[in-house]
Amino acid sequence: MKYIILAALATTVLAEFQRGISIVAPTVGTNVTSGVPFLVEVLKNTTLNQEDVGLKINIVSFIDRVSRPLYNGTFNPTSSISSTSKFQDFIVVPPDMPSGGATVTVGHYFTIKEDTGVKFEVDQVEVEVHGH
Ligand SMILES: *[C@@H]1O[C@H](CO)[C@@H](O)[C@H](O)[C@H]1NC(C)=O
Ligand SMILES: *[C@@H]1O[C@H](CO)[C@@H](O)[C@H](O)[C@H]1NC(C)=O
Ligand SMILES: *[C@@H]1O[C@H](CO)[C@@H](O)[C@H](O)[C@H]1NC(C)=O
Repeated sequence: MKYIILAALATTVLAEFQRGISIVAPTVGTNVTSGVPFLVEVLKNTTLNQEDVGLKINIVSFIDRVSRPLYNGTFNPTSSISSTSKFQDFIVVPPDMPSGGATVTVGHYFTIKEDTGVKFEVDQVEVEVHGH
């Protein structure tokens, strides 16, 4: 819950700025199943001078409101689809969790050249969980 509020705040604060990352996959309404790997594809806008610090992927159930970690580590997008963006694929496995709606959230930690401090932005997409 705390995480959702923080994420919402971060989104609000950064709303006036161009967001550096966006979720390509999964798309809205994708079925994901506990224990079955699925793809999270994260696109980075490379024109914003962001230096990547790390990436955190969570799945937040609407049913029990628990945020469960799917990935926490480096972000190093190298695959190119255009001159202004690169993407990275993450295969993640949803843990045991309740069936129903959930949000996949991708939090991006980064710094900006000639600026101090680590900044945070988030993108999210709604999926449908099939639990065990
Ligand atoms: C998700 O699964 C349900 C059946 O459980 C199906 O009706 C629905 O079309 C599926 N959604 C997608 C986006 O594949
Ligand atoms: C990347 O950011 C630049 C600068 O804000 C913007 O003009 C451009 O549309 C963005 N590109 C994408 C693919 O979002
Ligand atoms: C995520 O990774 C960062 C950097 O390694 C670490 O400081 C942090 O404690 C980790 N968070 C969780 C929830 O594991």
